[in-house]
Amino acid sequence: MLDWTDRHCRYFHRLLSEHALLYTEMVTTGAIIHGKADYLAYNDEEHPLALQLGGSNPTDLAHCAKLAQDRGYDEVNLNVGCPSDRVQNGRFGACLMGEAELVAQCVSAMREVVDIPVTVKTRIGIDEQDSYQFLTDFIGTVSEKGGCDDFTIHARKAWLSGLSPKENREIPPLDYPRVYQLKRDFPHLTMAVNGGVKTLAEIEAHLEHLDGAMVGREAYQNPYMMVELDQRLFGSNKPLKKNVASWLRRCTHILSARWLTVLTSITFLAICWVCSRTCRVPDSGVATLVRMHISQELASKCCSRHWKKNSCSPRRINKSCNKPELCKS
Ligand SMILES: Cc1cc2nc3c(=O)[nH]c(=O)nc-3n(C[C@H](O)[C@H](O)[C@H](O)COP(=O)(O)O)c2cc1C
Repeated sequence: MLDWTDRHCRYFHRLLSEHALLYTEMVTTGAIIHGKADYLAYNDEEHPLALQLGGSNPTDLAHCAKLAQDRGYDEVNLNVGCPSDRVQNGRFGACLMGEAELVAQCVSAMREVVDIPVTVKTRIGIDEQDSYQFLTDFIGTVSEKGGCDDFTIHARKAWLSGLSPKENREIPPLDYPRVYQLKRDFPHLTMAVNGGVKTLAEIEAHLEHLDGAMVGREAYQNPYMMVELDQRLFGSNKPLKKNVASWLRRCTHILSARWLTVLTSITFLAICWVCSRTCRVPDSGVATLVRMHISQELASKCCSRHWKKNSCSPRRINKSCNKPELCKS
């Protein structure tokens, strides 16, 4: 999700779920080919990780898919679902649903140069082109001519004009039965549903009909669901606390390496507190961990100040020290 699931967010999500397939934000072929920054950078810990590409030039997409494979991505996904004006002006995203032959060429060009899966994320229709026939024609063309065998379907159509991208994620109604029907009509294709999935029970219900479910906003707003997901769907029993605590420790160690004072720790604590209030994180217990960890950090900082003042160290306690138990710890 653009501006949300950057590499730092994905790193955090990977700590919560070992197994979920994570997706990058959409990266345009233009940015990768002509941009000055490294748009393909990620942390090794993020695997399994799919790069989502935005574009419609088969040669450029093939070039970017090859770069992605060389950089170690596990999958390349083509965005055929974004309805924003900017994306439409670039002739990619959801408007490509009206150009099934071109999408097939794009997928085919990418598949020719990579061995990793090339997948497509799309909608159930665009504008007035929202019949089931339109959807099956699109999927049929992209799978038969392009060779794509793995689709994620956002179960609502997109209005290409008149609605903002945000409204296009909320106003057109969700139609899960249509996606289930699609899977029944194309049983050989791998199909996942996306849109409005919020709970594990909902994921499990979709899995009765489909091969996967993609969770967008809820994974961002309620990240703890990913821990439960690992436990319920993948039978994981990895202790979360150890995982997250080590991540937090790394973060604070980086921050506190040389110049972080107790004062900035307190600022960090305040930011965490504000985030926990605004992001619904407290339910997850992660905020508690943040607070616990920061207070431990603060305690150790105070302690080291105390050592300094009394010329103590954990090994050598000054006789005049009035808090030897603190310095020993
Ligand atoms: C801030 C934001 C950015 C998004 N960026 C992308 C994107 O880069 N690529 C994409 O395929 N979908 C993007 N989406 C759409 C989501 O992937 C998803 O299709 C949509 O939010 C519906 O699923 P949900 O109800 O689980 O969130 C974005 C959504 C949001 C809220």
